[in-house]
Amino acid sequence: MTTHKSVETRYLEERQQFFQGLRNLDRRSFLKVSGAALGATVGLAAPQSFTPVSVAMGAENSDSKPAFRFAYISDSHLYEKNVNDRFVRGLLRAVDDVNKLDPQPDFVFYGGDLAQLGELKQIELGAQILKNLKAPLRIMVGEHDWYLDLGQKWQELFGKSTYSFDHKNVHFVVLNSVVEKDFWTVRKMTPMERMKTVAGLDNGVQSSFTVGEEQRNWLKDDLAKHPDDAQVIVFSHSPLYKLYKNWNFWTDDAEEVQAILKRFKQVVVIHGHTHQLLTNRIGNIHFHGMLSTAWPWPYAPEGMPELTIQMSRPDPFDPNDGCGDGEVRVHPDGLVDKVYSLWNRNPITVARAYTVSWGKQSIPPKPNRVAY
Ligand SMILES: [Fe+2]
Ligand SMILES: [Fe+2]
Repeated sequence: MTTHKSVETRYLEERQQFFQGLRNLDRRSFLKVSGAALGATVGLAAPQSFTPVSVAMGAENSDSKPAFRFAYISDSHLYEKNVNDRFVRGLLRAVDDVNKLDPQPDFVFYGGDLAQLGELKQIELGAQILKNLKAPLRIMVGEHDWYLDLGQKWQELFGKSTYSFDHKNVHFVVLNSVVEKDFWTVRKMTPMERMKTVAGLDNGVQSSFTVGEEQRNWLKDDLAKHPDDAQVIVFSHSPLYKLYKNWNFWTDDAEEVQAILKRFKQVVVIHGHTHQLLTNRIGNIHFHGMLSTAWPWPYAPEGMPELTIQMSRPDPFDPNDGCGDGEVRVHPDGLVDKVYSLWNRNPITVARAYTVSWGKQSIPPKPNRVAY
């Protein structure tokens, strides 16, 4: 005989299991917990949302086979689990998505804003969840990870915030693009006041994000040994171009960084922070904005790059709408196909040929959902 359980009881049990698992996230409890995370989002447990989609061809130069691929997760904005578990479930879902990829990606890149307010417990919780990725992890910093203690805890856990590495002929560069001028000392702000000021992107008190002179010099040195036809992929958190200053969708010294990258035949810049599909090209530099697992930002009222095909405006009654993770297929020439794994919508691919042809070929599909 089966005992009847009300929806409420079942939900409570699921939550209990979810939080029990979070206390000690080894591989086994992760599987249980991530299953519960999916189950708890009723109606969202879509079949594997991370299905790679074949690129809509029609362009002769979108044919080359990817040399390798990596997965991309970003902007989880974790609170402590007793404060908010929705964002925790978002990250669990992304880790699940990526772990289900077969074959596994060569590595997973995390694009910053792991924590919401830079607190140790938030960063540690994120690190614990990310430990469950099967593929190796590379990670960068976002402003939400940084401005409570100016990166101390994050760096203790993850290492340097500026670095580079090589993988299968591609040179990857990771920049801390959220460096701000000191606005806090003169105002006698506490660390949390500073953090909250930076977190409020449009409060008008903080300074604009920069890469800064020190990192620009490091970048020049780092790239000096690479010839002009090298394959270079740069990760920034904020876009390395000027989109909309009032929201800090902006890097103040973007032109100076672009000038360093200018001598290369082609460069790809991949960024988080804007929590939405963004495509841009400035000269030889191809830019791709990635999704968040926490929430989608609206599009900025001005400054939108022409190549961007906007997502439809997310359903305000569906907290996961417009969120997702992604996959990057790197072609032998270093340019990429970006696959946006939108959790509640069809995946969208922005193919290499689209940016190569300045938007004339392999045009990504228009949004297939109503805009709210
Ligand atoms: Fe973010
Ligand atoms: Fe950010």
